[in-house]
Amino acid sequence: MLFKTPDGMHDMLPEDAEYWISFEHAARETFADYGFRPIQTPMIERTDLFVRGIGEATDVVGKEMYRVLSDTNLENLLKGEKLKDSSRLSLRPEGTAGVVRSVVQHNLVPQGAPPVKLTYSGPMFRAERPQKGRYRQFYQIGVECLGSDAPTIDAEAIIMLIRFFERVGFPKNDILLLINSMGDDSCRPAYREKLRQFEEQHIDGFCDSCKERIQTNPLRTFDCKNEGCRTIMADAPKIREHLCDDCTAHYDRVKELLDLAGIRYREDDTLVRGLDYYTRTVFEIQLGEGSNAIGGGGRYDKLAQEISGSTKESDLIPGFGFALGFERCKEALMERGIVTLPGKSTDLFVACASPDARVAVFEIAQRCRDEYIDCEIDHQDRSLKSQFKLADKLGARFVAIVGDEELTQNAVKLRNMETHEEQLVSLTDLETTLEELL
Ligand code: HAM
Repeated sequence: MLFKTPDGMHDMLPEDAEYWISFEHAARETFADYGFRPIQTPMIERTDLFVRGIGEATDVVGKEMYRVLSDTNLENLLKGEKLKDSSRLSLRPEGTAGVVRSVVQHNLVPQGAPPVKLTYSGPMFRAERPQKGRYRQFYQIGVECLGSDAPTIDAEAIIMLIRFFERVGFPKNDILLLINSMGDDSCRPAYREKLRQFEEQHIDGFCDSCKERIQTNPLRTFDCKNEGCRTIMADAPKIREHLCDDCTAHYDRVKELLDLAGIRYREDDTLVRGLDYYTRTVFEIQLGEGSNAIGGGGRYDKLAQEISGSTKESDLIPGFGFALGFERCKEALMERGIVTLPGKSTDLFVACASPDARVAVFEIAQRCRDEYIDCEIDHQDRSLKSQFKLADKLGARFVAIVGDEELTQNAVKLRNMETHEEQLVSLTDLETTLEELL
């Protein structure tokens, strides 16, 4: 085998791809009920969009981005020429930065307009160490709502995601919602400094990566899986004890609204998320303690300003959103036996019982397809017996046999593959008979 999929990337084989289509369709339907409309942005964006938007010190931007170079740009680079910022491109590691760029670029939230609600789906790329549930190309479905900082937006989106997870089959009791508040510009800087001081007092106990993080992004140490770091961080000051009054009121309101909707959640004061744009509410959904998150998101009130480069108060477009990981959802649903990928099935197989019937078989199949009956035929001159085997393999519910006798009678012999009953059906009645039977 000369070529295989690159490490951490996978083919979506037909049964996976069919499931993806139905899963995505269910998401779009659920989100449409809440007013979300589809948007698709390019898979490649300027690298500095992600650097500014997601944050240089995050793993996603600092270590995991795939850079994209055209041949000409690569040659220029090798010749020692400097690349223009607009030629420095990357594969998107997530969807939020691109969607917010698009909202700003096309002025989708003009002054005084109601919030814009957008949903997107497709592959994202992160050069992570591949392992179960962690891929280098994975599919996300996400939503972004821009133009309001109201806590009702946060609560509505979280409730919508949980309703979607219930709709695709996750048992209510398996869904673990973790929430936290990250504060905002008026309370987080002081907290960050306090945390950094605490971490520096314990610097010798941290792993090497955390020692680095303490300088660049002290909150990220909450995410470290290293036992030593975790033990230290258990005693670290927590952001929720340092929220300003406005952030506390916002957070309390979100919780109140979740309570009202009967949504169970757990407050997790170590939940900081891996992307730097978050302010106030953040959340993640796991299926059971400590498992990989199947979805997560939060509020990002400063991201649009960061992307537009404007500091004007009037250019502030607060936002809230989330994304879920398709592969993780699918794997979890399959492990629980909630979903089995559908095998191939077809309504009708038209079998050829005589060399003279080949053209008629082709024509009959075409006529049926024109009436939206899904239909297959043999293309390899198989014997009638092996055509029946093929029909079985394809999950055909009916087989229409066309031989010399049927040709003279202008009819087919229609066999029900479950009951094995056969009936002669004239060609003029075939589509209507099948429509009744199927
Ligand atoms: P995220 O938490 O980085 O957030 O990713 C969201 C979901 O994508 C995760 O919960 C997980 O299910 C899936 N995911 C992430 N990385 C991988 C991977 N390497 N392999 C498989 N699945 C993965 C975001 O991407 C934010 N843009 C969410 C957001 C939208 N926040 C606000 N708006």
